[in-house]
Amino acid sequence: MATAIPRTLVLKCDPESITFSQDEPIYSDSETENAIKTAVQHLTERHVVAFPTETVYGLGALALDATAATKIFSAKGRPSDNPLIVHISSPSMLSSLLPPSYTPSLAYKTLMHRFWPGPLTLLFPANPSCVPSIITAGHPTVAVRLPAHPVARALIATTGIPLAAPSANTSGKPSPTRAAHVLRDLGGTGRLPLLLDGGVCAVGLESTVVDGLGADGALRVLRPGGVTVEALVAALGGSDAPDGMQPPPRVLVHRRDFVLNSREENAPTTPGMKYRHYAPGVPVTLLYTASAPPDDDDDAGRGAVRCVGLDAFFREAESGASGRLGLMAQDDSPLLARARSEGAPARWLTFSLGESTEPARAAQRLFEGLLSLEEQGVERIYVQEVAEEQEGLAFMNRIRKAAATSLRIALM
Ligand code: TXA
Ligand code: MG
Repeated sequence: MATAIPRTLVLKCDPESITFSQDEPIYSDSETENAIKTAVQHLTERHVVAFPTETVYGLGALALDATAATKIFSAKGRPSDNPLIVHISSPSMLSSLLPPSYTPSLAYKTLMHRFWPGPLTLLFPANPSCVPSIITAGHPTVAVRLPAHPVARALIATTGIPLAAPSANTSGKPSPTRAAHVLRDLGGTGRLPLLLDGGVCAVGLESTVVDGLGADGALRVLRPGGVTVEALVAALGGSDAPDGMQPPPRVLVHRRDFVLNSREENAPTTPGMKYRHYAPGVPVTLLYTASAPPDDDDDAGRGAVRCVGLDAFFREAESGASGRLGLMAQDDSPLLARARSEGAPARWLTFSLGESTEPARAAQRLFEGLLSLEEQGVERIYVQEVAEEQEGLAFMNRIRKAAATSLRIALM
């Protein structure tokens, strides 16, 4: 007799029904309170639980318990050499993870004060006697973040123990920004017993990962994300920054301003790693329309980028496909206008990335668009580049890894 695969229990949570008194959640909705209690029970029994954060949905387990944390890796099919972010619900939880003698730098104190709770992850020296090596993948550092989403914070605070949580997707796939994405990817497989549905993620892509532990005092952005580089620079150098930080520390972006040593640079876990990541089940092509493609466009080793005109692009794309095609672009893009013009919608499904003046909107809709066009059955997804400023930096970081090919389109 075949064994039944355990179903994924989905429990609704209303983020707006949770407020906090210090670190203590207060609920105005008993359904939400009961859902969190059930999730805490699952976690303390060392199961994984998927939950919303303001960036993307996370797949959580007790961070200080190696047995529980191992289940995250098996549920996602994640390589064991990729370390996990540890999520806390209050700054006081941080000290339990760090060596007793450690004091954060003034720059770290400033960033924590300004961006926590929120989409910023900081690397700290790990206390090896309490943080299991499966969490750090054997590195001397531990990545920590204090999420802003009320459901995430309430879950961690009620568990009373930090939670390790990567994005709640099969390794290599786009990160989920809705409970339905998680359910479609990990549900019904026996790998996910419980999912908290707290609605849509407001940021839509992952946290910014910053390493400020180097002897030179610089802050190295290992992965751009929800907190922009511009915001980091302003917090450290602005008029509110502490006097002790003159001159302010430099903020360096991986691959733009620095590279890691060659062993780290080639490791599969490096933020600029060479294999595809964030990729839906259908092929993705990145369209450069304004900027010159970088010389090594090339998180995926693609080589030189071909240039075509707008008409040739549509002709080639349509004649090379038997089914429908997806296009993600900003509202003022001639590409979007063309794919919505008379007759075209029979071939093209479009997904707006918002106005070009609102990069946060493009970032929020990136994974959402990839996942929804994939679900609607398109044969290929074309994604127009956005300017690499503000949240556009994180957008381009993710789409370069997701895209198997790129094209340059001459719009004039
Ligand atoms: O927004 C987010 O950060 C989401 C939500 C769920 O909080 N989590 C997330 O986790 O994106 P994940 O596992 O998908 O990405 C974690 C990133 C990886 O690039 C990993 O290599 C890096 O953080 N990381 C974790 N610990 C590290 C460490 N000790 N040193 C360097 N990088 C680390
Ligand atoms: Mg991830």
